[in-house]
Amino acid sequence: MKVILSNEELLFQVQNYYVIIVTVFSLGVAFFLSKSWGRKAEIPGRLGLPFIGETLSFFSATNSTKGCYNFVKVRRLRYGKWFKTRILGKIHMFVPSTEGAKMIFTSDFANFNKGYVKSMADAVGKNSLLCVPHESHKRIRRLLSDPFSMNSLSKFVKTFDKMLSERLNKLQESGKSFSILDFSMKLTFDAMCNMLMSVTDDSLLGQIEKDCTAVSDAMLSFPFMIPGTRYYRGIKARRRLMETFRGMIAKRRSGEESFEDFLQSMLEKDSCPTNEKLSDSEIMDNLLTLIIAGQTTTAAAMMWSVKFLHDNREAQQKLREEQLAMIKDKADGAALTLEDVSSMSYGLKVVKETLRMSNVLLWYPRVALNDCTIDGFEIKKGWHVNIDAAYIHYDPALYKDPEQFNPSRFEEMQKSYSFIPFGSGPRTCLGMNMAKVTMLIFLHRLTSGYLWTVDDPDLSLEKKSHIPRLRSGCPITLKPLNKSK
Ligand code: HEM
Repeated sequence: MKVILSNEELLFQVQNYYVIIVTVFSLGVAFFLSKSWGRKAEIPGRLGLPFIGETLSFFSATNSTKGCYNFVKVRRLRYGKWFKTRILGKIHMFVPSTEGAKMIFTSDFANFNKGYVKSMADAVGKNSLLCVPHESHKRIRRLLSDPFSMNSLSKFVKTFDKMLSERLNKLQESGKSFSILDFSMKLTFDAMCNMLMSVTDDSLLGQIEKDCTAVSDAMLSFPFMIPGTRYYRGIKARRRLMETFRGMIAKRRSGEESFEDFLQSMLEKDSCPTNEKLSDSEIMDNLLTLIIAGQTTTAAAMMWSVKFLHDNREAQQKLREEQLAMIKDKADGAALTLEDVSSMSYGLKVVKETLRMSNVLLWYPRVALNDCTIDGFEIKKGWHVNIDAAYIHYDPALYKDPEQFNPSRFEEMQKSYSFIPFGSGPRTCLGMNMAKVTMLIFLHRLTSGYLWTVDDPDLSLEKKSHIPRLRSGCPITLKPLNKSK
């Protein structure tokens, strides 16, 4: 049976079909758009096998003379700024932006925390500022902070200046080439032990330094107490150090010894209520932490300043002029004061530029405590988000000609979170002022007293080091500066 439709009926049918088609199409488009708009960006990268992931590539980069940051560089070339990887069973990201850095630093402890590494807590102690939970961190940090304020640094300036001047003078007189890295390591170690606990005896200093190095090496090792391993040596060294510190505390408490130093200022709080003082284990764990956190970082930065200034004569000469002008009315060899140090305006720019370019600490590790989004990327609870200071410090959008050593760039205001060599937020470096003062005094004595040659141009980096340092230690020879005042 044939159904004959009138023109109106036909038009009505067509309209119905049209409405259905348009509705289905619109719903499809809406569904697709809602999916893609709601979706957070996927982070590219390779997670590899469970647990192992890219651990071997990471260790192979750490064990090469290009340094461990080459692992990050290679993946950026492959995947772009954001990538994910798996190291020792944990998923890692390297956060490459000031916005990302800000987000993590400003919600440290609330949404992010330092990743707990068992070997680290075993080595520096569970009461160390680097390992304690949020509540204790605030209290311990407040109680440790006073001896690091600018005011308390005046005494340190005098001691460090004297120590440095004598040692540089001796080396120049010997006429021999020496490793500036070894020199800085010993110098900063001796100066810190003097400031923290008035240790000046050479053999005791030698023993403490050896043990601190063993502890530092154990911090990122596999925590198995097997003789011969780095972990085993580190834990043994820690026990010896704790014995030494305990002995010092006992002598001071009995009145046998008394000094004006950091340890004494901690013990003077003995009669304070519990929340206003540190327990003995808190004092001892943090003495060790301060030595370890302060020595290698400052020494590496000093080494890089020598290298950068050697390669950039114009900056070296400008710095020398500032330093000589500052002492032109002083007697020869007169001690520096904290006021002198505070007046070194170009000197401070040299320090900043050195820290920007050397990236003594390449990234700052954190773990996400909740699911979150950074720079539009979805981050899952438990993922490791490392604030990539090295990337930020070399980002051409933040620093013009980032490979160029140009201290004067710090004449201009920097964008927030674009200069973060000491971190930021509640975990900002406790020794920041001390590190700057140390570097400024060093630059002053070096440039106002000497000229130097770098005796090995090799740019290879030390293997197995998480701090970038020249493998050669940057050997130099000093020549006295001919000062015609
Ligand atoms: C050029 C030298 C130094 C550099 C570049 C440096 C850098 C840093 C950075 C980036 C952090 C924060 C890491 C993070 O957020 O995960 C930090 C923390 C710390 N630094 Fe330094 N540092 C230097 C020297 C020192 C010195 C001289 C001391 C002490 C004598 C020191 C003691 C500490 C301590 C105790 C912390 C932990 C702070 C906390 O968790 O509250 N640092 N340092």
